[in-house]
Amino acid sequence: ARPSHRIASLLYEIDPGSQVVASGWVRTRRDSKNGFSFIELNDGSCMSNLQIVIDASVPGYEEHIKEAGTGASLEVRGELKESPGSKQRVELHASEFTLLGKADGDTYPLQKKRHSFEYLREIAHLRPRTNTFGAIARVRNCVCRTIHDFFQERGFLYVHTPIITTSDCEGAGEMFTVTTLDQTPSSAGDYSEDFFGKKASLTVSGQLEAEIYACSVGPVYTFSPTFRAENSNTTRHLSEFWMIEPEVPFFELDDNMQLAEEFIKTLVQKCLDECAEDMAFFNQRIDKEIMTTLRNILDNEFRRISYTEAVDLLLASGKKWEYPVSWGTNLQAEHERWLTEEHFGQPLIVYDYPRTIKPFYMYCNEDEKTVRAMDVLVPRVGEIIGGSQREHRLDVLEKRLVECGLDAEEYWWYLDLRRFGSVPHSGFGLGLERAILLLTGMQNIRDVIPFPRTPKNAEF
Ligand code: 4AD
Ligand code: MG
Repeated sequence: ARPSHRIASLLYEIDPGSQVVASGWVRTRRDSKNGFSFIELNDGSCMSNLQIVIDASVPGYEEHIKEAGTGASLEVRGELKESPGSKQRVELHASEFTLLGKADGDTYPLQKKRHSFEYLREIAHLRPRTNTFGAIARVRNCVCRTIHDFFQERGFLYVHTPIITTSDCEGAGEMFTVTTLDQTPSSAGDYSEDFFGKKASLTVSGQLEAEIYACSVGPVYTFSPTFRAENSNTTRHLSEFWMIEPEVPFFELDDNMQLAEEFIKTLVQKCLDECAEDMAFFNQRIDKEIMTTLRNILDNEFRRISYTEAVDLLLASGKKWEYPVSWGTNLQAEHERWLTEEHFGQPLIVYDYPRTIKPFYMYCNEDEKTVRAMDVLVPRVGEIIGGSQREHRLDVLEKRLVECGLDAEEYWWYLDLRRFGSVPHSGFGLGLERAILLLTGMQNIRDVIPFPRTPKNAEF
């Protein structure tokens, strides 16, 4: 095969008059009566299609043009010419054309009409050929590159934390356990201690391991698949998602909030700068408010309020909540969204949560009632980041483990970090898919990850 040009560079970079090769998949084909055809070709490098003009003098035209239906794959060589129409700068006038893989336009599962996202979820092998899913793939890629750049530019080391682990970081018991098939269960039907005789599960967070590295080599971040066995069928939860977790020594809660805000703003800015065509599409076709929401994020400082203030606002709102609020209860999605969307109309950082509703590792405040936790809430999505300053005082941490019903013996290595050269340190976790929801205006988290894993989706 000859190296072909990506359609994005043909449309936006290469000069008219050049001889070029394009390959991709047919979006539409129109045949004129006078023996020529127009083909809209897309290769996923950008939202726009390249228009191909091909006439009967091109070898293979007569035999094969009818097989080049929507969905077929082609390679086309020819001259790039200025386009007489105003839609595109250029079009490709074919001199050679090879049908690589024919497709019957009538039975191709992607028809020209708009398909529902539910239907597209059932054809996860073809949905990346649609405009929406092509755009999501490009935006997701841009976000991932930006994440690495953001931390690398600040001198953070990228560390790999284990997928198979023996500790439950969040202490919420939402783990998938790991078993080995060729082992006999330790007692009838009990596979619970089956990682070669030990209990192991898929990680719910790389934080504890990231803390080890942060307290040795300085600022670090992880970027890793994460697993949660919560059986919740919401538009915000996946069983398998990607989490980014920075962890920084000599860092307190305020520093952590500052880093989180800069981080989110950088992701927004880069998407607007580098994925302009895709972002315009989302604004036009997915959510008409998305640009306004994102501009608003860039233009304002995130509001910071304590959990106690948040509860007071919720109580004073006069709203009828599905889940009643009182000091000490977890904030539910409905509360978070009201605070960020309706009350403040901008991103919000809620900090200092009650000790009793947060994991063991968070720093206890002097009031002995709250811990130095922070959640970043954004309009349309709710919680996008969860983080905290970590408890670095050995005696306080030991008490907290007991209080949370955990076995301090199992955390001996975590306690060692507090025994030998303990330092204040902080970090947070960003859910990648929640960030993509925010950036694209998409509604359902199943549609912003290529292959969603939820209690109901795990086709292939
Ligand atoms: O708030 P979480 O549970 O915090 C932690 O795991 C900490 N150990 C992070 C840290 O401090 N290093 O999860 C962090 C973020 C959430 O704010 C959310 O964006 C995302 O991870 N998240 C999920 N995303 C998709 N599906 C799920 N089931 C998610 N659970 C959490
Ligand atoms: Mg959380």
